[in-house]
Amino acid sequence: MTLLFVLHLVGAVLWVGGMAFGILAMRPALATLPPPQRLEASAAAHRRFFLVVWHVMPVMLATGYALLFGWFGGFAGAGWHVHVMNLTGLLMSAVFLAIFFGPWRRMRAALAAGEAADAAAANNKVRQMVTVNLLLGLLTVIVAGWGRFGG
Ligand code: HEM
Repeated sequence: MTLLFVLHLVGAVLWVGGMAFGILAMRPALATLPPPQRLEASAAAHRRFFLVVWHVMPVMLATGYALLFGWFGGFAGAGWHVHVMNLTGLLMSAVFLAIFFGPWRRMRAALAAGEAADAAAANNKVRQMVTVNLLLGLLTVIVAGWGRFGG
C-alpha cells in the first residue's frame, strides 16, 4: 500500500507538474519563436508530454482505487477528500481524452497537411483545455492534501 501511495504521488507530480510547466513556462518561452517553428516545437513537446500522461493516467486511477479499497475498504470508509478526488480525477482523465482525440488529433493532421492556420487554432484549443486540466489538477492536490488531516 505504501508503494502504491508513493506511485500515486509521483504520478500526480508528473501529470500536474508537467501541465504547470507547459502553461507557465513553455508557452511564454515558445512565443519568442517565429510562428511556424513555434507550432513545430509545441507539437514536439505535446507529443512527448502526452506519451507521459498515457502512462501516468492509468497508474493514477489504478493506484487511487487500490488505495480506496485496500486502505479504506471502499467509498463508505473514505473521507470527503477521496470522494472529491475520485470525481476530479475522473474529470481530468476525461478532459485528457477529449484533448487527445479532439484538438490534438486536429493539430497533427493540420501540421501534416501544411495548414498552419488550422494547426494554430487547434494548438490554442489544446492550450485552453490543458489549462482547465491544470486547474482541476491543482484543485485535486489541494483537496487531497487538505482532507488528509481532517480539514
Ligand atoms: C487523477 C488525478 C489525481 C490526483 C492528482 C491525485 C492526487 C493525490 C494526492 C496529492 C494525494 C495525497 C494526499 C494525502 O496526503 O493523502 C492522494 C491520495 C489519495 N488518492 Fe488521489 N489523486 C488523483 C486521483 C485519484 C482517484 C481517481 C482515486 C480513486 C478514488 C484516488 C484515491 C486516493 C486515495 C484513496 C488517497 C489516500 C487518501 C488519504 O491518505 O487520506 N485518487 N491523491
